[in-house]
Amino acid sequence: MNTILVTGAAGFIGSNFVRTLLRDRPDCQVLALDGLTYAGNLENLADCLTDARCRFIRADICDVESLAPVFADGLSAVVNFAAESHVDRSILGAQAFARTNFVGVQVLLDLARKHEVQRFLQVSTDEVYGSLGETGLFTENTPLAANSPYSASKAAADLLVQAYHHTFGMPTLITRCSNNYGPYQFPEKLIPLFVTNLIEGKKVPLYGDGLNVRDWIHVQDHCDALLLVLERAMPGSLYNIGGNCELPNIEIAQRLLAHLGHDESMIERVKDRPGHDRRYAVDITRINNDLGWQPRVEFSSGLAETIDWYVSHKTWWTRIKSGEYLTYYEKQYGPSGVVGVKE
Ligand code: NAD
Ligand code: TYD
Repeated sequence: MNTILVTGAAGFIGSNFVRTLLRDRPDCQVLALDGLTYAGNLENLADCLTDARCRFIRADICDVESLAPVFADGLSAVVNFAAESHVDRSILGAQAFARTNFVGVQVLLDLARKHEVQRFLQVSTDEVYGSLGETGLFTENTPLAANSPYSASKAAADLLVQAYHHTFGMPTLITRCSNNYGPYQFPEKLIPLFVTNLIEGKKVPLYGDGLNVRDWIHVQDHCDALLLVLERAMPGSLYNIGGNCELPNIEIAQRLLAHLGHDESMIERVKDRPGHDRRYAVDITRINNDLGWQPRVEFSSGLAETIDWYVSHKTWWTRIKSGEYLTYYEKQYGPSGVVGVKE
């Protein structure tokens, strides 16, 4: 039986990945670990935790003592999603980003090395490559040129992961994906923030000229690619993952407005993000050639389904926007604030 440790499991992509594992790999046991920062929400895993193959552990990935017993039980793989993930927050303060995104990865690597874990997948981002001009794509050979404190902390972690492979022969894997959308995304990111604001009748804050370009991928496509890399990629390999779907932010805003029956008066032009990367676009030739992966969810239908998900899960996001979600863990597991292994 495979036991897979998924860190950052109560976040957006981590919770979707846990659901994917339980659905597609009947043989696996999942240890869903999360420190439950502001971005972690145990409600994202509520359905998964009714499955006897899935156990939740509240722990900080920087805390060796909490993690040691988890590794001592014997793991077949670690998939690390745990991170501070919001660029705007990294501009306000980089400390938590340096700590979790770099030190946390070092702690996980050391434990995985000590316990000879056979697969270590670091979930990274295309943002480590910096910003593109009007043409060209990020390939796996594009030099690292991170611009935000968030992307700099992710790039530093990628280098550390590669160093552990080079120095110790650790069986590491790195993926660098573009912007995800889909269910359970924290409503501070572009798409869920705009959708939930519009449902509430509030304006949407569009940064700068609205012409910054992102490549969008449905979270299910990302999770499918991760599972393939986890199971089939060569140790030490690195793969870009992307949706082949470049769009300027203004167009995302217009599509959301149209779907929800609003006009452009609901767009509020606001001051640009400092150091705002202009364009991301990802070349996915390598993962396509080596593993036969390509994105399957077409953007228009994926976006429509995603909007409908937020419309029909109003309780989920109103509890986040009001802060009420922060009491859910306490209600399930007793007093919060205790970081450690929970049975
Ligand atoms: P998220 O913010 O929704 O989730 C991050 C999770 O990590 C949260 O549940 C949080 O509680 C947990 N966490 C944070 N610090 C922790 C710590 N010290 N110990 C334990 N848990 C901790 O982020 P996401 O969008 O799901 O992103 C997941 C990963 O994927 C991140 O590593 C991110 O860099 C990467 N990624 C995200 C995207 C995207 O578009 N969202 C794209 C490419 C890569
Ligand atoms: P975001 O979802 O924060 O992802 P990232 O910065 O990691 O790509 O932002 C996506 C794009 O949307 C980015 O160009 C910034 C822009 N944006 C806005 O215009 N308004 C907003 O309120 C947010 C959160 C983002």
